[in-house]
This record gives sequence, structure tokens and C-alpha cells, in this order.
Amino acid sequence: MYPEYLQLSLEKVAEKREENIAFQPERMTADEKETLLQGYHPDYRKDQYTELRAGANKGEFVNSELAETLMGRARVHASDLDLNNVDYDVDVLIIGAGGAGCAAAIEADEAGADVLMATKLRLGDANTMMAEGGIQGATKPGDSPAQHFLDAYGGGHYLGKKELVYKLVTEAPECFKWLSDLGVEFDKEEDGTMIAIHGGGTSRKRMHAAKDYTGAEIMRTLRDETRCRRIPCLNYAAVIELVRDEGGNIGGAILVNTNTKELKVVRAKTTIITTGGSGRLHIQGFPTSNHHGATADGLVLAYRVGAPLLFADTMQYHPTGAAYPEQILGALVTEKVRGLGAKLVNAEGEVFMHPLETRDVAAASVIRECSRGLGLDIQGGGQAVWLDTPMIEKIHGEGTIVSKIPGMFKMFNKYGIDMRKEPILIYPTLHYQNGGIEINEKCEVANTTNLYAAGEVVGGIHGRNRLMGNSLLDIIVFGREAGRQAAARAKEIDHVGKLNIDHVAEFEKELADAWVDTGVVSPKLFPHYKADFRNYLRTSFSSDRADKQ
Ligand code: FUM
Repeated sequence: MYPEYLQLSLEKVAEKREENIAFQPERMTADEKETLLQGYHPDYRKDQYTELRAGANKGEFVNSELAETLMGRARVHASDLDLNNVDYDVDVLIIGAGGAGCAAAIEADEAGADVLMATKLRLGDANTMMAEGGIQGATKPGDSPAQHFLDAYGGGHYLGKKELVYKLVTEAPECFKWLSDLGVEFDKEEDGTMIAIHGGGTSRKRMHAAKDYTGAEIMRTLRDETRCRRIPCLNYAAVIELVRDEGGNIGGAILVNTNTKELKVVRAKTTIITTGGSGRLHIQGFPTSNHHGATADGLVLAYRVGAPLLFADTMQYHPTGAAYPEQILGALVTEKVRGLGAKLVNAEGEVFMHPLETRDVAAASVIRECSRGLGLDIQGGGQAVWLDTPMIEKIHGEGTIVSKIPGMFKMFNKYGIDMRKEPILIYPTLHYQNGGIEINEKCEVANTTNLYAAGEVVGGIHGRNRLMGNSLLDIIVFGREAGRQAAARAKEIDHVGKLNIDHVAEFEKELADAWVDTGVVSPKLFPHYKADFRNYLRTSFSSDRADKQ
């Protein structure tokens, strides 16, 4: 049930549906993709970037919202507390309790370490919970980790760290066994074999799902396992600074209880950062599919102790965020919808791209279509194109939408839109942080000791563009590895020396020497909700950009 002003376009979409189902648009050439990205992808809007003037990436440019956070003032200073009055003393501290954090905790516990998890929200409140479409892994005949490598490495513009991509793809099949043994219910054929479908940029059917709530199913299982193992998790305990010992090794962290504002000190032989991404910084004013907690905290913590970031200038804008109705603006419309055959069509009902281009290319195509005046103006602000979901039932038969993507069906149906009969309106939404903290295959954070990182907070696995389903995979592969490595290293450490946060004063001096005062205190911990995303969407890519094509 759409308003009157959209009806004419809806009729055009319905009229062309049969023809559009049969139509096979060409894939773009590498040159066409490059021109498109340069003209329309938000990563190329250099007016939105700011130079980092302190820290390991000094001189590099990142999105301005991230820059002001990375160059923010600390929440805590040496005079605020006695760091050697320790509240918790553990082998392994895990900061963040989403998918990567729980996977790390399970493995560290399995290795016999004394583990503590701390999260600013609650155990399992994370982007993992919101992941929909699936997890990649070469489990089928005709596919292989080598093929998966080519797709992931190529999708990332041949820039990912090869050793990390290698680890990701070669350990994928074993991760499926691990998850299944823990109790994850993947979609199966009647004979019990796993169902696999295509995702954007995959050359083989390799996407495994639990309907369209794959992340929730994985998170449920991991969370239950940490509870069964009685691994302690401090809820509402935000980490606001890492601490070091006299030798400069990371020796734990300072927490703040987000309710009482009390500060607590954790002394830890090893520390793992699994705080997730930065979508809630609403970079370039975009709406986001991200969890409330995704405010780049882990990047700030690591950056301030001297860790470098890789590809911190690149974000992933998921091509299909909900653009209507306003209540769900920016919510994820899983790529699985296109995997099932729905095509993107413009206001005239024309298919304008191959449905399974990589995400950066697909997002830029949608933005270009709107910039050319071939999108729809949404009353109240913003632009959109159609994702022609009724195609799915025409291709696969009635009942497919409710059985395969029930979450999507419910989300739109709640607002009177029956996606079995009517297309849905979409526009790119800020979805993922492609870059992050630099690590090696052991998940050790570069330029530090006894510090590890895993999950979305890490950079280098996905190069400059992640493929669908490789993040649920990376949180498992690298989360487990971080847990194993941190536990093994903790066994080698006799005791942690006297704690300090001298790095805070050092970093703030570097900022002062560079005359930088962003006015921001970081980590931010919680997002602000003042932005008017719809106005942004209307004006951000002016139509003259179309001339570049
Ligand atoms: O489209 C999706 O379901 C998103 C998956 C992902 O980001 O991996």
C-alpha cells in the first residue's frame, strides 16, 4: 500500500516485470566499474574526508566523523583513579561481546584461561545479531577455498592482506562444523545437506543461511555457549581506555559502568578487542543498518596506544537499505533478496544493473540512477529505486518469500507493504567498516604487545570492499584464533607490571602540538540522533555528477 504519488511508477514496474525477469543485464567491465565508483561511491567524496594529524596514521585521510573521533580527547586521565587498585585480575580480557567476542571467549576458555568479557550493552547486543543473509564457506562440490580466495580477494580490489584472506577461506569449512556442533541450525535440503546460494561477487553458490536471520541464529548459539561455560560477562561496562605496564605491554583496560559512572580497572595478561564497527557514527550523514553500539570504540582504544589502522578510509554502503517507510529508514534489506532473483529497477521500471555486482558497485549504481533523475523522490525527503520483490514468487513459486526471507516480509508487512505483491523502495545504507586495526594471522595488533583484535574492528581481510557473508565468517575464524592466541600468550606471562595510561598524555600532547582540538571526547560509546538523513539523501549527489558518466 503505497501513497498516490508512487502509483504511476509502480504501474510501470508491474508492466515490465515479466520482461525484466527474462532480461539478463551485462556485467560491467573493470573500467566501467572504476568510473562508476569514482563518480558515485561515497568513499570517493574527498570533500568528506579529514587528515589525521596525530597517531600511527598521521597524514592519512579518513571520513571526517571518524577523524574527529580518532583525534578526540580521552574520557579518563591519570589523575582520575589509582590504576593499581585493581578490580578484576584475569588472564584474558575480551572487550565486546558480539560474535567475535564470544567465539574468542569460548576458545580461550577451552584453552583453560581465566576469561572476562566486558560490553557496554549486554552479552550478544552487536552487529552479529543483525546480520541477515548468510555466511560464506566453500562446502560444496565444484567450489574450493581457492575459488573463495579469488572472489574475496578480487571483491576487495586485490588489496586485502593475502595471509588473512587465506586464513579466512581455508578455515571456513571447519567453522561450519564448529558452528553446527554448537547448535547453529543452517538451512538444509530435505536430505539434510546444507543449502547454498549465490551472493554478490561470488562465483559459486557458497552462501549458507538460517533464513534471513543468520546472524541472530549464530549469536544465539555462541551466547548460550558462553553462558553454559559460565564465562563471566560484565554488561553495561564500557571500556574507555587500554592500560599498559612499565614495559609498554598492554595490561588490561579501564571500564566505566554506564549506569553508575563508576570506574573499574581490569588487569589482564592479554586483551582482545572485538568491539565491532562504526556505522553509528553516521558517516557522511548516511542512515545505517548498524547496531546502536557501533561507534568505533575499538578503533579509538587501539589508535591511542599506537596501533595503525588499515583501509580506515573505506566504508561499505549496502546497496539495499530500506528507504520507505521512514520508520525503517536505513534498515538492512538482505542481499539474499537479490540472491533469490529480485532485480533493482528505476522509476521507469527499467533494470539498470546486474543484480549480483559487488556491493560497492551496486551502491554506486543506485546513487547514479537517482542522480540521473531516474530514482523516486520520497515525500519528506530522500530518494530511492525499486527492488522488485514480486519477481521472487514468480521465479520460485508462491510462498517463497515467507519461507525464505520471513524477517523481510514481516518488516515491510508491518507497514502495510506486501512485498510478495509490491516492490520495495531502497537506497544505500551505511553497513560495514571495511578497514580497521592492523593485525597478523595470529590476530596480534601491530605495534603493540599482548593486544589482539578480531571481527569488524579489524582491517585488511576484506581489502576495500567486503563480500556478503564474509563478515559472519571472519568473526568466527579470527574470533576463535584471537581466543586461542591470547590464552596461549597469557600462559607465558608470569605477572603484569605496574599499570599506567601514560599513552593518553602522550597522544594528547601530540594533538596539542598539531593544534588539533576536535571538541570530541572519545570513545563516543553512544550515537547522537540529531541528523536528518532524508535531507542528506536528497542533496548529497547532485545531478551534475551524472555528467561524469
Ligand atoms: O545482505 C546481507 O544480508 C548482509 C550480509 C553481510 O553483510 O554479510
